[in-house]
Amino acid sequence: MTLTVPTRKPPTTTESVFSVSGLWKVFGPKPERIPADPELSTLDPAGLRARTGCTAAVRDVSFDVRKGEVFVVMGLSGSGKSTLVRCLTRLIEPTAGTIAIDGEDVRAMDRARLRELRRHRAAMVFQHFGLLPHRTVLDNVAYGLEIQGVGKSERRERAAEFVAKVGLEGMEKRRPGQLSGGQRQRVGLARALAVDPEVLLFDEPFSALDPLIRRDMQDEVTRLHREEGRTMVFITHDLSEALKLGDRIALMRDGRVVQLGTPEEIVGSPADDYVREFVRDVPREQVLTCRTAMRPASAAETATGPAVRPDATVAEAIEAVARAGEPARVMDAGRCLGVVDQERLLGVVAGVDAETGGGATTAEAAGTAGGAAPAGATAVPAATPDSPAATPDSRTAGTSSPAGKPAPAPGKAASAAGKAASATGRPAPDRRGQATPPGPRTSPEAV
Ligand SMILES: Nc1ncnc2c1ncn2[C@@H]1O[C@H](COP(=O)(O)OP(=O)(O)OP(=O)(O)O)[C@@H](O)[C@H]1O
Ligand SMILES: [Mg+2]
Repeated sequence: MTLTVPTRKPPTTTESVFSVSGLWKVFGPKPERIPADPELSTLDPAGLRARTGCTAAVRDVSFDVRKGEVFVVMGLSGSGKSTLVRCLTRLIEPTAGTIAIDGEDVRAMDRARLRELRRHRAAMVFQHFGLLPHRTVLDNVAYGLEIQGVGKSERRERAAEFVAKVGLEGMEKRRPGQLSGGQRQRVGLARALAVDPEVLLFDEPFSALDPLIRRDMQDEVTRLHREEGRTMVFITHDLSEALKLGDRIALMRDGRVVQLGTPEEIVGSPADDYVREFVRDVPREQVLTCRTAMRPASAAETATGPAVRPDATVAEAIEAVARAGEPARVMDAGRCLGVVDQERLLGVVAGVDAETGGGATTAEAAGTAGGAAPAGATAVPAATPDSPAATPDSRTAGTSSPAGKPAPAPGKAASAAGKAASATGRPAPDRRGQATPPGPRTSPEAV
């Protein structure tokens, strides 16, 4: 597997857009009894089905989606991703728990308020595009504005702007049938963007696309996110896509979030054997950073050697160390946080760094995994506690902040800072050979 994981800018905010707590969705007879019953709620999926005929698609899930972040929900087919994201705007009615958007209780919203939420505040992009076949590209993009009641000339003007933004200039008059899959998904993206939603919800938008077009679309999302800083919730069952796009990733299994963390946390400190197996093939040196790999510097080391940023990948540091023939200093704002030497860097590649610095898994991640902290959730920082490297900072703050919150999300222009070093034109990420998920349950309310 080859990855191009964008280097991320230090996060800037912890403000939440969505705030989800104790969320359950149970399908089947008398679903509300399941979350409330300590015996039934702890049954495994097969046991629950046998006892009650119910499926708990989402089980006691809690998380915040922060303003400006790309929050990825990842998991195998049937793990509850679509159900979870549909519960956010009540396209599926939750069975128990709370959901707030900007502090407003979504479960208490009446029909009119819900419609407003879906039309203005949270726009959805579907796997199968959900386009209107008899309408032109321009009119498809304008559709969301039309149902918002925006006048014809204004909506066409705005639609044209977003058609251009997604790279479809000149195709305004075509119908969806005259477009490729990738182009159709760009129309879907433009339509969602045109209503200027606070948050974009993507349900496996690229899984119907072939790998090259898929990569183009991923780059498009990264670009749009960088330019606009819009909050995104992105569902995928593709690990490399999750690692590439996500500021944070919630990994689901059987309806539960088994780990929530940055790509580096998920790869560096898998919460359990399931996650470990999931990330087994990931090239660690392309995901883990110098902040994780470094050790304290001796007095002599702080004065010499090449400099690398704390968020430079281990792969980048390997190149710097190999060229210089000596350890690299991890520098932040003129301060030497520590050093990465050959031993540390090779340890990351070999996966034998776990005991000394496998990254940080947040307290929030442990909290969202349905109660008890998963094994391995408490990370040991790479540096000793009294070294400068152990100072809480933007990437590791989550392990030590009083609220137990992990590093907040990047805002506008996120990740631009480190782009030069990481955009090395590596080949497209591999796809894991997982089952193609079924098509989404498209709702006309969602546009
Ligand atoms: N309307 C429904 N009635 C009964 N069970 C359902 C319903 N919708 C989903 N489920 C079940 O809930 C579980 C989660 O389904 P969901 O569609 O959320 O999974 P997913 O992670 O999105 O999977 P995929 O990657 O295949 O899209 C599955 O076991 C599914 O069979
Ligand atoms: Mg799904």
